[in-house]
This record gives sequence, structure tokens and C-alpha cells, in this order.
Amino acid sequence: MDRKMNRRDFVVGGAMAGVAATLPGSLQALELAPRGPAVIVRSAVKPLVISAANGMRSRDAAGKSAVEKAYEMIVGGSDVLDALIAGVNIIELDPKDTSVGYGGLPNADGVVQLDSSCMHGPLKRAGGVAAIEGVKTPSQVARAVMNETDNHLLVGAGAQDFARRLGFEILPDLNTPESRRLWLEWKRRTDSEHYPDPKTRATVGMQVGLQMVREGLIEAEHYYGTINCDGINARGDICGVTTTSGLAFKIPGRTGDSPILGAGLYVDNDIGAAGSTGRGEANLYNLASFLIVENMRRGMTPKDAGLDALRRIKANTIEKRLLNSRGNPNFYLNFYALNKRGEYAGLSMYPARFAVCDERGSRLEDTVPLLTGSATD
Ligand code: GLY
Repeated sequence: MDRKMNRRDFVVGGAMAGVAATLPGSLQALELAPRGPAVIVRSAVKPLVISAANGMRSRDAAGKSAVEKAYEMIVGGSDVLDALIAGVNIIELDPKDTSVGYGGLPNADGVVQLDSSCMHGPLKRAGGVAAIEGVKTPSQVARAVMNETDNHLLVGAGAQDFARRLGFEILPDLNTPESRRLWLEWKRRTDSEHYPDPKTRATVGMQVGLQMVREGLIEAEHYYGTINCDGINARGDICGVTTTSGLAFKIPGRTGDSPILGAGLYVDNDIGAAGSTGRGEANLYNLASFLIVENMRRGMTPKDAGLDALRRIKANTIEKRLLNSRGNPNFYLNFYALNKRGEYAGLSMYPARFAVCDERGSRLEDTVPLLTGSATD
């Protein structure tokens, strides 16, 4: 780390010394330990939270959206990851959101299986769960994996057992009447075996699901629906969380990009954070969140770093079943990226929106799309 100090750092450092004096003893010791010049903060940034567009949709009892809740907690001094998880909990607990947590669209057997991961930049720790059943807030279990174990990822029944032993409420079924109704409709329309001949697989399961999207039964964003939420505080501490019910009507056990570090989420506290929503398989093949952070490490802006990753994904999408009539990817995939300076961007294969909350308040902004039109053109 460059220990040279400019005037702005010095002024900020002076201000932060007062803040440090109010910290608990152990943290004060960390903050005030001599390490070069007698300043504490490298540089100050404006706190910021970004997320998928659904971070502006669900509301808690106080009327706050996920990004608003997380931002409020960050400026109030909460740990950045705790704030982000409190934000996405609002969506996980919203029965009306059919893409995340409770009420998420179930797998092909009608069982809701959830994925989540989180990364804590300053602590350099991470945790995740995949295909966990019965817990409404998988992001909290992911954080418990991070905090309570030496592991990064627990899956399936093991993840549920872990949650049960830590006192999480385990429900027999996370379906809502709406998610069950949509699953029944999907089931009615598809081959009951769900393992079609490879030659015809593009014409069943997935196509029926996408037809239900076209008919307006399922929101396009909810088909692979997910929320990724990333934030930075005034000290430049960066964290991220991603949580999802994954691909609607997936093969039981299918896990997407969300719980996989480097795919659905990646954070490096010295560089920035990136996370995704959309077709997890396309992201998993390219580990694009890691790629975006590495691009930023090489000096790219969040926007250029994300567009470069989308170009890579497009180039690696060659199977006909994944291409539309224009020869472009026939799926949606979005990234949300921020860097150490608090610069940010939403990037997407096709035009989309994403949520932002900073000192100017919360809002939806347009992503920067790689392609025009839509996935189904
Ligand atoms: N991006 C969410 C999923 O593919 O499961």
C-alpha cells in the first residue's frame, strides 16, 4: 500500500481519529497501531450501495427498499456486509418476489432450493450455501458459514442441518400459493420426466418456461431471478452478497452462479466488487465476477471491466440453442460493479435497469448494455 499522504488524506485522517476514539478497545488498537504516518484512513469515499433492480422493489415494514436499508445502516456505522444482508433479507422475506428466498420459484419437483454467497472485503472471508431448503434467508446462512466455519460452501441437506443447529427456523416448504401455482402450470405443460432426449431438450422444460415468460406469467427477471448487492463505506471497505432461488423449475440440485465465488460474486477490498444476475451457466463458464474485479485491478473502469466480461461471454456462447435469430445470446445476464473509489456501473447483455443508493437517495439507473434489442429477438 502506498503510504504517501496527500493533504486530503491528512484532513480525513484527522477527522477519523475522532471516530476511532469511540471504537471498542480492540478495534481502537487495530486502528491506532503505528504503521507509517500517524493517519488512519487511506482516503475517503462516498458510501454507496448498488444492486439488481429488485433491490428497489420489495419494502420492509418501515417502507425501506433493500438498497435504502443497506445504505442507511452503512452511513450509520454498521459493518458493510451486515448492512447488505439486512437489505437483501427484505427481498428474501417478501412472498411476492418469486426469484429470491421465500416464495422463489421452485425446482422441477416443486421444491424451493436456494443459493447464496457473501464476501467480506476487509476480513477477506467468504461463505456460501447451495440448494438449501427450508430457510427463508439463505444469505444469513452464508454469513454463518463464513463466520462459524473454516469452509466456504455448504450444500443441500448438510447446509440445512448446519442452519438448524445454529437455530435457524426450518420450514417444511418455502412455496407460496403463487410459486406453487406457477410450478403446477409449468408441470402441466412439460414432459413429466424432465430428462428429455438431448436432441430435443431445447424444446421442452426451458422453452416452456420461456414461453411462460413471454406470456407474462413469469417476469423475465425472475426466470433466473437473483439479487446481488454490493456496498462501500466511507473508509473504502467493500462487501457483497448474492442470493437467489435460481433458475425457475431447475433440475433438483442444480446450482447456478450465485453461491460460487468468482461467478455470482467477487470482492477484493483493495480493488472493488462485482456480482451478477441472469443465466448462471453463462457466468459460471466464464467466472465473470472475478474477471471484472481483475479487469479493474488492471486499471479498467467498472463499466469497461464489465463490458469486457460480457464480450467474453458472448464470444464463448456458440451453441445454437443459446443463440437467438440474430446469432446473439438468447439469455439475460447482468453485472453490478463498483471500485475502491466508489465508482460504479451496471452492465448487461441487453438493456436493463439497476438500483443505486447514495447521498443523492435511491433510484433505478440504466445499465450499459453490450447489445441492443432483447434476448428473444
Ligand atoms: N443467476 C442465478 C442463477 O442462475 O441461478
